[in-house]
Amino acid sequence: MSKDILTMGIESSCDETSIAIVKNGREILSNVIDTQIPIHEKYGGVVPEIASRNHIEAISRVYKKAIKDANVSLSEISAITPTYGPGLVGALLVGLSYAKSLAFANNIPLVGVNHIEGHIAANYLTYKELEPPFLCVMMSGGNTQIINVKDYTKFEVLGKTRDDAIGEAFDKVARVVGLGYPGGPKVDKLAKEGKPSIELPKTHFAEETLDFSFSGIKTAVINLHHKEPDINKADLCASFEKNVTDTLMEHVKRAIEMTGVKKISLAGGVSANSYIREAFKALEEEKIKVYMPDLKLCTDNGAMIAAAGYYNYINGKRDGLELNAVPNLKIN
Ligand code: KG4
Repeated sequence: MSKDILTMGIESSCDETSIAIVKNGREILSNVIDTQIPIHEKYGGVVPEIASRNHIEAISRVYKKAIKDANVSLSEISAITPTYGPGLVGALLVGLSYAKSLAFANNIPLVGVNHIEGHIAANYLTYKELEPPFLCVMMSGGNTQIINVKDYTKFEVLGKTRDDAIGEAFDKVARVVGLGYPGGPKVDKLAKEGKPSIELPKTHFAEETLDFSFSGIKTAVINLHHKEPDINKADLCASFEKNVTDTLMEHVKRAIEMTGVKKISLAGGVSANSYIREAFKALEEEKIKVYMPDLKLCTDNGAMIAAAGYYNYINGKRDGLELNAVPNLKIN
């Protein structure tokens, strides 16, 4: 019987300090998440310097709990797998430096992980049977991409946002209508009380592309709210949500047609959105297999990083202590 491989994922790219231990890329032994949301709430968004300081304050505590919850010792860990990008540089450096120290002091291989690969790998933790190839719609605060996952560590970006990420648009809409930060879940909740009755514009590019643009819809909602401050906020949220979901679905259907791949997964914080999840679920009626990570694995967490780290580790990736944070790291 081959030996189990345990990877330790370390995530600190934005406002969550998280460390997790995962077995063979699929089974979570521990997943400790220390969120800074209450700290940044009063500023209406993440303040990078404050995020870095709080990662420093939290990381040893999170590490100790991750080891304790998994009931393992560091000597059983096959690879330390930190996020090294994309993300906030100061925040990334905290997790990465911690990972390097652990790896160096204990002679454990270091394997840097792309945060976006981590979001994709959240699907492997929820669906033990899922194997590439499949398409992944990556939707977070900093990214919106349709990715062809050709293999565990081989990706092709089919389309991406040319301006704002979809999560950024959710957060901005929430701020404008006075819902606060983080906006996505609050828009999701309020939209349930409204109707998608307000006409909002859609961006279409002249050329055939799977790229997105969300800055136009964001600005349209801001302008409309300024012009009509008494507008029904629930209807506005529902109309915004329907507008961006329709755009997503149009692009996804085209990506399925183009590639012939009939398995589609979601990834990133916005994939927790209930309206978007329903729209994707409906694709199953068209014989498309849909995979949606557990809600708690949609937003940033160490387990998804450990899962992606596992596949990079068994694929032979190793990094040295010179590995640096790459704030704008791309997936391919
Ligand atoms: O993936 P994530 O945790 O962090 C990044 O790597 O960016 O995504 C955070 C984003 C935020 O914009 C947040 O508002 C959004 O995900 N989000 C949601 C929902 N839950 C989180 N957006 C819409 N509906 C939700 N239920």
